[in-house]
Amino acid sequence: MYFLLMFIMLFSTASNKQIRLKNNGRFPDKFTFGTATSAYQTEGAWNLDGKGESIWDNFMHKVPSPALYGDTGDIACDSYRRYKEDIRNAAELGVQIYKFSIAWSRILPTGYANFINDKGLTHYKNVVKEILKYNMTPAVTIYHWDLPQRLLEDGIDWTTNDLIPHFVNYSRILIRNLPEVGYWITINEPKQICRLGYGIGVIAPGIKSNGVLEYHCAYIVLKSHAAVYRMFKKEFPHYTAKMSLGSDCQWIRPLTSSPSDIEAATRQLQFECGMYFHPLFNGDWPEILKQRIQERSFAANLSKSRLPEFTDEEIYDIKGNYDFLGINHYYTIFTKNGIESPPNITSYEADVRVTDSFDVYKPDGIYELLKWLTEEYGYHEILITELGLGQNFTYLNKIKTPHLQSKPPYVITENIYINDIDRIYHFKGYMCYILEAITDGINVIGIIIWNLMDDLEWIFGYNIRFGLYYIDFEDPKLPRISKKSAEFIKDLMRTRTLNCTETIQPVCLI
Ligand code: NOJ
Repeated sequence: MYFLLMFIMLFSTASNKQIRLKNNGRFPDKFTFGTATSAYQTEGAWNLDGKGESIWDNFMHKVPSPALYGDTGDIACDSYRRYKEDIRNAAELGVQIYKFSIAWSRILPTGYANFINDKGLTHYKNVVKEILKYNMTPAVTIYHWDLPQRLLEDGIDWTTNDLIPHFVNYSRILIRNLPEVGYWITINEPKQICRLGYGIGVIAPGIKSNGVLEYHCAYIVLKSHAAVYRMFKKEFPHYTAKMSLGSDCQWIRPLTSSPSDIEAATRQLQFECGMYFHPLFNGDWPEILKQRIQERSFAANLSKSRLPEFTDEEIYDIKGNYDFLGINHYYTIFTKNGIESPPNITSYEADVRVTDSFDVYKPDGIYELLKWLTEEYGYHEILITELGLGQNFTYLNKIKTPHLQSKPPYVITENIYINDIDRIYHFKGYMCYILEAITDGINVIGIIIWNLMDDLEWIFGYNIRFGLYYIDFEDPKLPRISKKSAEFIKDLMRTRTLNCTETIQPVCLI
């Protein structure tokens, strides 16, 4: 997610490092590429054909709107109706994986499994059929942030154990009805769900409980993922699909070589990536989380740690429930050790105690991250479930003209979005370093690009663009226009080779 980046614009330095490659920059034959979308961000049709309300429908309909310029996902890219066109656009790129997410409340309008909305189920069956028509592999995210509103209203959400059986029931319906799916991603970006949804409360459901409920959320997310994985392996032993969690993991570097900054970077990496991967791959929370959160909870006179303790049984149940390691990767963070906050402050920031700055175009960060993941969690198949670059010119314009209350006119022409050279540099740089990781024996099996087409970037509305296809959201026909980066991907799919010896240019970010 780009949320923490929005206020920062950086020009990074070009990477001068000589990339070591075997195979002359050619991706291994079995390596797969894909594009991604998610339901709330693209489908629209928020109340059509029996779909129930989700927490995102509800959140974005609030007055005043939590979103930039009051944008909502009511129509979005209209992909519920236009999925055939979208799937054909992906197929035209020549990619092998089509990743999308399922809206829980389209299948189960209230979230409960006592009533299945046939129209919703039929829709997703048709989506899968269409993907298969082009010989692509469907990759499905079971949960991409849109909990049914009714569950939330009944007190069943990512902070309660009660959610687990409902999530399992919903997942079972999908798995049973979509046997051709090749990859199941149970939960997308748990850190954002928990931290932004329950910690700082800037995304749905908008609950603010910094340093408390967000840890409970992490605990429930991990148990929910594990319960679905166990159900999948037990009840569908004949399926060959692979399942895992899709966790967002950025690379974190110390800002200076001082021991305290180095320690701070390691600590932050454990808070950000280790919080989800350590329990899944190694069992239990990372030691530093247990220690810091307990220490600061006791200092605040709480009787127990704000980080829930796993029982031995839970540790056993969660560990090992994956078929691959799934990461969403976008940028590198430069970290500086922070100052210890007063003991009465119980927040995530105080627990992690760092100050950071960002640099999106740091393509070697992915190499470092892949190496670290392999050292930390062992040799696994790694699927990069999201990789992409957001561009936002209207937002910058808004910052320059804060007095404007309504959507400012685009001051930069459409062509900048369509001639998205920066995105090509971004992909090229990151992919060259992924090739280097493969050369060094790290088992990366594929890259899924975020995303197929411009869509609703959550509370930033339609003002940040990640797509390979451009959409003019002012035009009611919502035409999809292929960008330069789409041409780059098409070429790459033909040659499967990158020239990584050229100088990689700096990129102007969002
Ligand atoms: C990750 C999220 O999965 C996706 O929904 C979001 O649009 C992208 N990051 C970009 O922020």
